[in-house]
Amino acid sequence: MSLKNKDFLKLLDFSSDEINYLLDLSKELKEKKKNGIAHRVCEGKSIALIFEKTSTRTRCAFEVAAADLGMHPTYLDPSGSQIGKKESIADTARVLSRMYDAIEYRGFGQEIVEDLAKYSDVPVYNGLTNEFHPTQILADFLTIREHCGELKGKKLVYMGDARYNMGNSLMVGCAKMGMHFVACAPKKHFPSDELVKECMTVAESTGATLEFIEDPMTATKGADVIYTDVWVSMGESDSVWEERIKELSPYQVNKALMDNAGENCKFMHCLPAFHDLKTTIGKEINEKFGITCMEVTDEVFESENSIVFDEAENRMHTIKAVLYATLV
Ligand code: CP
Ligand code: NVA
Repeated sequence: MSLKNKDFLKLLDFSSDEINYLLDLSKELKEKKKNGIAHRVCEGKSIALIFEKTSTRTRCAFEVAAADLGMHPTYLDPSGSQIGKKESIADTARVLSRMYDAIEYRGFGQEIVEDLAKYSDVPVYNGLTNEFHPTQILADFLTIREHCGELKGKKLVYMGDARYNMGNSLMVGCAKMGMHFVACAPKKHFPSDELVKECMTVAESTGATLEFIEDPMTATKGADVIYTDVWVSMGESDSVWEERIKELSPYQVNKALMDNAGENCKFMHCLPAFHDLKTTIGKEINEKFGITCMEVTDEVFESENSIVFDEAENRMHTIKAVLYATLV
């Protein structure tokens, strides 16, 4: 298996074997890191990290993964470069690929990262767009493997806005890996017909099941994993909060929902999460709408069944595997 020089833009571009290969490699690199075994196989290489939206996990995961591999990272923050404002994506791609061995991009439309890859001579990685967040899914799947075993046949229920990057990417990932994916949301929050159709075709060859269910109790029965994400994503207008809270409150992950799924059901979230009042936005929403948590209750977030911090750690090991596989 070789993924050398390949871009990592969305999971639809990868086969199940390739995804499994990246997960196996992540496991191997995680063990090396835990055992203090050096793996500086990219010594002397460098990577440009373009962030047009903010980040904690993705940025830190890329920086630490690059450093562990012996690479030099350069972070370009949401306001500190010419990208988009004074210089086109095509020109930026051609400049950066003269200086760097790889480019990561976090930002808005998927077409931007696809364009960057088109004009770049070096591998380009998607660190989150409005449509997809593929490096997150690798971390999620490594975490599910660690806690629940083989991916095939596992039931993952995504609660909330299933038409954005996380819902879309989990649906694609589950289809690729032969899992049972359920999007649980009001109908208008289901993924687009076009993407569903594409995933259904993938599912035919992998044995995956894809379901779209509005009732939370029906959807979560027997789930191995319940997954959620923020109700308003980066780049969306603050004016949508009120409507989202109204529409998605019935889809909050709480103890009743977890109990309905079964005692072994794990709780996952890509993070950051609004589960208490210890954030500025959490406090503002509390003052405006009187709620103390949103997509997940603090009780579930802090429970034994919550594996969100293992999931966050695995961002680094899986991103390292992507760098390794595409650069070595
Ligand atoms: N999950 C995730 O992508 O987190 P950040 O926004 O902190 O990178
Ligand atoms: N849907 C979220 C994911 C954050 C990792 C967002 O785009 O803000």
